[in-house]
Amino acid sequence: MKNVIDAPFLKELTKTTSNMYRLGWDERNGGNISYLLTDEEVEEYDLHHVIREIPVSFRSDDLIGKCFLVTGTGKYFKNCEDDPENNLGIVRIKEDGTTAELLWGYSDGGKFTSEMPAHMMSHSARLKVNPKNRIIMHCHPLNIMAMSFTHPLNDRDFTRTIWKMNNECIYVFPEGMGVLPWMISGSNEIGEATAEKMMQYRIVVWANHGIYGAGETFDEAFGLVETVEKSAEIYMTIGEREIINPITDENLKRFAAFAGIDYRKDFLD
Ligand code: 13P
Ligand code: ZN
Repeated sequence: MKNVIDAPFLKELTKTTSNMYRLGWDERNGGNISYLLTDEEVEEYDLHHVIREIPVSFRSDDLIGKCFLVTGTGKYFKNCEDDPENNLGIVRIKEDGTTAELLWGYSDGGKFTSEMPAHMMSHSARLKVNPKNRIIMHCHPLNIMAMSFTHPLNDRDFTRTIWKMNNECIYVFPEGMGVLPWMISGSNEIGEATAEKMMQYRIVVWANHGIYGAGETFDEAFGLVETVEKSAEIYMTIGEREIINPITDENLKRFAAFAGIDYRKDFLD
């Protein structure tokens, strides 16, 4: 039976938390990640003994029996690579749908992220749309946060602005992105609202707080977040100066036709 410490899925996650920390997206304990493990991965590693049970504040019937590698609450992304067993945990959702069975990690007695509702509910939503989805990640990128203080908070307007700061955006997320107003983070309500958006989008902005990204792989979820953050940086850098050379709706339509992109048609005029 192999040791989890040597698992490629653990290295993938800890390399990602270090990258996110270095990009300034995860100050202190900011941000959290959950990674759905495959049955084969769980079989191969020493994950057959329940260390303890941790109650969950909501039901996840869709996820019963599934195992997730999840960052710990209050833990710092910068520390995950050097001390994974303390900062991360692997949990399995028990048959009752409201208990997490700890199979590895949280070695100082800790538990999963306070954003567990948004993570688990988003996994349920994304798995309905794409059974290959495995990653949900949350972080606090500077420019996305700043933009959310001054920009109208509806999916269409926010998507349009982000798409128009960089041609590549409509290629990377042709379905657009969801936006939620300020809500109580960590609550079941923000979890439900996030999951509802995740039925349509892989990106959900939490105004005044940060962003969620979903994907089949770390590259996909991370790539979505960094593409949005880059566009938000361009938006914030332009600031109040007049745009005299815009990317127009017509430009985006022509690019989409050329590149064969099936984008969200009602998001362009
Ligand atoms: P946790 O430390 O509980 O993961 O919370 C961090 C965070 O970003 C809350 O939104
Ligand atoms: Zn947060």
